[in-house]
Amino acid sequence: MTYKLDTEVLYRGTTPQGIIRNPETPAIYPASAYILDDMDDYLFADKGGRYYYNRSANPNRDELGAAISFLEKGEKTLICSSGMAAISTVLLSLLKNGDHVVMNKAIYGETVELAEWVLPGFGIEVTFTDFTNPEEVRKAVRQNTKMFYTEIIANPLTLVTDLDAVAAIARENGILTVVDSTFTTPFVYRPLEHGADVVLHSMTKYFGGHSDLTGGCVTASAELIDRINPIYLLLGCCLDPVSAWMTLRSVKTMSMRVRAQNQNAIKIAQALAQDPHVKAVYHPSLPDHPQHELASRSFDTDYGYGAMLSFRLEDDHEKVAKFMKNLKLICYLGTLGGIRTTFTHPRTAFANNFSDEDLDRMGLAVGLVRISVGAEDSRDLIADLQQALAAMDD
Ligand SMILES: Cc1ncc(COP(=O)(O)O)c(C=O)c1O
Repeated sequence: MTYKLDTEVLYRGTTPQGIIRNPETPAIYPASAYILDDMDDYLFADKGGRYYYNRSANPNRDELGAAISFLEKGEKTLICSSGMAAISTVLLSLLKNGDHVVMNKAIYGETVELAEWVLPGFGIEVTFTDFTNPEEVRKAVRQNTKMFYTEIIANPLTLVTDLDAVAAIARENGILTVVDSTFTTPFVYRPLEHGADVVLHSMTKYFGGHSDLTGGCVTASAELIDRINPIYLLLGCCLDPVSAWMTLRSVKTMSMRVRAQNQNAIKIAQALAQDPHVKAVYHPSLPDHPQHELASRSFDTDYGYGAMLSFRLEDDHEKVAKFMKNLKLICYLGTLGGIRTTFTHPRTAFANNFSDEDLDRMGLAVGLVRISVGAEDSRDLIADLQQALAAMDD
């Protein structure tokens, strides 16, 4: 049978079967669908069949999910298109009309927005409370409370939650505990080993590690993931195969990156704490951090205490701007967790969506600067910070 040019070209360019053997790195499967043998073949991969349609299952996402389940000590992992996709999938699948969720008041700003703007529309009530005090969490429990939601190292003041204590209260009351562990990474802390039911990450940060991809993941028991999965499929927030492949590649160097970044963060926190321009430094490695003892006991401190830190300058907009402008190596960037050191001004980041009173309540003072520490030589980073601090006096 001969075909016309336009037809034939559509069937050209495929690799002949049988000549590829055991590549050192996994292949990328961008296919949005897979050719079926017959009607009996129509079974989704997650139900024991083969790959059939990208949104339902994809080999690159599954390979990455298996690696993350291993790292987090969970049974199954869903790979999502962003951290927010992971968070919304979990909230919308495990909560329903009439339920109540207790959330840490010190969490990522857009998670707060999701809870305040979206959940009430679905008839879900939210209470924000102080998770550094488990008794406050207990007090917030109601008859219809179905979920506790927290981060371990909270943004941006690096407050640490005692998950063992909080998860114990949850279990007593038949409540699920969900943890966004983006700042800790599974090398420093594995929430499922401390009583959490679900752990999620923005993979845009340390999993990706190079500020060049966006993704999220959700790890839990097989039973919970099987509850979340139908909504995940319907919301359509699967990660694209290329990003899943890139993330798996980055996971292989994550331990080295995280260790180097976290060790740098300790040195920078110590240096900043000695600078007269700095009113306060927030990093769990510092002995005067309110949860230093908890972090030292529950983190794998061989890796450190996380690579996020913040510090407070005088609440003088011009001086803070001057400091920021004078940094030569460290860039102003709206993300974190990359291999290079970056900083952000949390109050400015949320000024469009929150009132000044809200920003004060969230601890986002004018003088607060947040640093995402990278893997450069710490001496260069400290020198850059010190010269920019000194330049504030000029
Ligand atoms: C702690 C935390 N959780 C979730 C997110 C959202 O992740 P994404 O931007 O990948 O949607 C972020 C983003 O900065 C974050 O810092």
